[in-house]
Amino acid sequence: MLLLPLLLLTDLIPGADNKHGHEHVFHGPTSFYVMHISSFVNSTWTQQQGSGWLEDLQIHGWDSDSGTAIFLKPWSKGNFSDAELTEVVEGFRVYFIEFKQQIQYRFSELELTYPFEVQGVAGCELHSGETTVSFLRNALGGVDFISLQNNSCVPAAQGGSRAQRFCAIFSEYQGLLNIIETLLSNTCPRFLLGVLDAGKAELQRQVKPEAWLSSGPPPLPGHLKLVCHVSGFYPKPVLVMWMRGEQEHPETHQGDILPNADGTWYLRVTLDVMAGEEANLNCQVKHSSLGGQDIVLHWGHPTSTMVIILAIILPTFILLICLALWYLRRRSYQNIQ
Ligand SMILES: *[C@@H]1O[C@H](CO)[C@@H](O)[C@H](O)[C@H]1NC(C)=O
Repeated sequence: MLLLPLLLLTDLIPGADNKHGHEHVFHGPTSFYVMHISSFVNSTWTQQQGSGWLEDLQIHGWDSDSGTAIFLKPWSKGNFSDAELTEVVEGFRVYFIEFKQQIQYRFSELELTYPFEVQGVAGCELHSGETTVSFLRNALGGVDFISLQNNSCVPAAQGGSRAQRFCAIFSEYQGLLNIIETLLSNTCPRFLLGVLDAGKAELQRQVKPEAWLSSGPPPLPGHLKLVCHVSGFYPKPVLVMWMRGEQEHPETHQGDILPNADGTWYLRVTLDVMAGEEANLNCQVKHSSLGGQDIVLHWGHPTSTMVIILAIILPTFILLICLALWYLRRRSYQNIQ
């Protein structure tokens, strides 16, 4: 009875980073995308931000003053030659300038009002370890606006007639659409495979979590908040549960998985219980780095203190006995002489 849920849980972990449920041979990230955020503050003031990401790991920045890419990892260039990178970076530089000018030029046609924010994401994802799927999506003011499907602009339902008008304009720029198509279906997959290989020592690393328990502020009088902290693990997928004996406690509350400064992750999982009902509770941590050896921390379990006492007192005690025996033997030899 118990084995089945546990097996299912173990199966969950390797697939948890795999949003679309496809099998893949790579461990670690499987997609690369560039993000572009433009803040149009007023008719003369615009701020643009660019960045490159392998899922939740940023590997590129963009210096918008000089129009150059910032490579945040020693392997951020993948296997592209300097010549090809220069060409792509130049393409982005021109795109940033053109994008800003075109939006300002079409400002009244698109019925925009200052200030507004445009967010764009474009990239490719590896499926089954070989085929890739590309995507391009834009949002206006944080709401889906348009996307690119089969190399044509598709207005989002939330974008209304403005998104339809934008797509009508966009479709006139066939040259631009062709460049985007090449970038998404050719450049991006080649870059993704190269960068996953160049960075594999870091991307496929396994770092074990540390876990500890503490108590938080009680939610209600007569209650206890038990906190299970799990920190320093990589990659991100992790399963942390409060258990009563072998059963997952239904009141388990999981926080967000937060980044540590060193690129590893941190998670807090809490449990509210009535005072006096904390017997037999433990926090269980499953992570790919643990190789099936789950971390289990028992709430208020005396074992940890007992182990410390034994670990310090027992060796000291043995040492004292040895010294005493040695002394007694030496004395008896001296007595014989
Ligand atoms: C545009 O915004 C910037 C920054 O807030 C401000 O300094 C500038 O005066 C504004 N310009 C106009 C024309 O409103």
